[in-house]
This record gives sequence, structure tokens and C-alpha cells, in this order.
Amino acid sequence: RAPRTATSVASSCTARRRHPKPPRHRAFSHTAQSADSSNRAFQVMPTLVDGLALLAAAILGYQVLSFAQLLYRTIIRPAKNPRKYGKWAVVTGATDGIGKAMAFELARRGCSVMLISRSADKLAAVKAELSEKYPNVEVACEAVEFSSLTETRRSQVAEVLDKLEVGVLVNNVGMSYPFCQWFHELSDSEVSNLLSINIDSTTWMTRAVLPGMLRRKSGAVVNLSSAAAQSPLPLLAQVKRRPDADADADDGDDAPLLPAFTAS
Ligand SMILES: NC(=O)c1ccc[n+]([C@@H]2O[C@H](COP(=O)([O-])OP(=O)(O)OC[C@H]3O[C@@H](n4cnc5c(N)ncnc54)[C@H](OP(=O)(O)O)[C@@H]3O)[C@@H](O)[C@H]2O)c1
Repeated sequence: RAPRTATSVASSCTARRRHPKPPRHRAFSHTAQSADSSNRAFQVMPTLVDGLALLAAAILGYQVLSFAQLLYRTIIRPAKNPRKYGKWAVVTGATDGIGKAMAFELARRGCSVMLISRSADKLAAVKAELSEKYPNVEVACEAVEFSSLTETRRSQVAEVLDKLEVGVLVNNVGMSYPFCQWFHELSDSEVSNLLSINIDSTTWMTRAVLPGMLRRKSGAVVNLSSAAAQSPLPLLAQVKRRPDADADADDGDDAPLLPAFTAS
């Protein structure tokens, strides 16, 4: 072996510098690589986290706004004066429950009230009750069976209503079923009644008052519905009206007048 001179040591150092030794431990090299990739991941992560945070904020903002709008529409917004739409208010299913309460409230606010329901004796009783409580209010009634509304009866009702200055129509009559069932489990007569009483009644009653409202350029149609109408529910094959399908003819509101139908 040749003795190592100063020149040979210097040249070997230069060679080492030109060709650096490969890393002695493979594990060390892996650690360096993974650190590098996690650094890159950390650079990507903030963008992803920011994006998710933005998405969450947008969803939350939408929910808060929707809730605020609901509060405004149901509680805060000042009540409209039903009398300004016209002299008469027509309420279907007016002999019981919500319909009866609506009839009394509309009378309290100065509207003449047309009560529509199926039982003539109950109609007479509610008419007497209303007249006693609000002697200055005109009350009329019409017995209509909405589960079997014939074309002839429909035209008769439309004729009666056309002679009145109907400002407000409350499409209140409606039914659900006694317990939850799948849509295919309902009997044909139940489906038929749900359609006639919930959907057909709303459609034909709205058609009956609409020409007069359009002539006078004033009117409001209020459709009663279940909160379940907001979203389809299994086991409640809902046949339902849209609760928001009310329109003010004089406001030029273009809300849909016709009922919606959902079966689930
Ligand atoms: N009450 C609730 O918890 C609730 C919940 C969600 C939605 N709703 C909706 O709100 C509206 C009113 O409900 P409600 O509980 O107040 O009703 P309700 O107390 O059962 O009163 C129903 C009214 O509709 C009349 N009616 C029923 N079937 C009829 C038919 N085939 N033809 C003509 N009139 C008929 C009834 O007349 P008779 O008196 O002669 O039977 C009665 O005046 C309905 O559209 C209902 O779907 C109610």
C-alpha cells in the first residue's frame, strides 16, 4: 500500500466533495422524505381547512337566515288587514277547529264571512254563534261535501261566490289519515278522499274566487297545510298543499296559487 502523501489526501477530499457519499442509514433518508411530504401536506391542509370552515359558515349562515325569515314571517311581520282585500272572507271547513277560529278572527277584523263546510246543522250553529258575537258582521253559509264535489255543485258555488266581493279565501278544509301508513297501504277510498278534500277543494275554490279577485285587482288566498308539507315523510304519504302558496293579487305577488302534491 503506497504511503499517503499530502497531495493524495487533498485529491481524495476533492473527489469526496465531487461525489458525496450516499446516506449511511436508509431509515434516516425515509424520515427526511416523510418530513418533506408532511410539510407539503401541511401546506395543503390550511386550504382544505379554510374551505371546510367557509362551507360550514355558509351552511350556518343559511340556517340562521332561514330561521330569521321564519320568525319574521310568523311572528314579527305586522298582520295584514284582511278587510283591505275586499268585503267577504270565505273559509272552508269553517265549522270546527282552525277553520272556525279563522272565521271568528276574520269577523273580528271586520270581514263578512262565508262559511263552507259539509254539515248544514253545524253551519247553522256556527253562523248563529258568529252573528251573536259580531252582530254587525254579515254571515252566510254554504253546505259543500268536498269528498264528492260534482261539476254542478262546483259551478253553483262559483256562481254564489262570484256575486260577493271576496277579498280573502281560506282553503282550510283538509284531512290526514288516522295513523301512519305506507302509501301503498292506503285504501283507494282514502287516497281518493285525500285528493278530493285536500287538493281538489283548494284548486276548485281558488278557481271560483280568482276571476273576481283579478277583476278587482285585489285578493288573498291562504292555504292551510301541515308542517309536514315542508318535507316528504315516509309513512305519511302526504297529500298536501303548499303552506306558502298564498298570493296577494294587489301586491303583484307571483307566489304559486295552485296546491302542490307529494306522495312518499
Ligand atoms: N289540527 C292539527 O293539528 C293540524 C295539523 C296539521 C295540519 N292541519 C290542517 O289544518 C286544517 C284544519 O284542521 P283542523 O284540525 O282544524 O280540522 P277539523 O277540526 O277536523 O275540522 C275540519 C273541518 O273541515 C270540515 N270537513 C271535513 N271533511 C269535509 C268534507 N269532506 N267536506 C266539507 N267539509 C269537510 C269539517 O266539517 P264537519 O264539522 O261538518 O265535519 C270541519 O269543519 C286541515 O287542512 C288540516 O289538514 C291541522
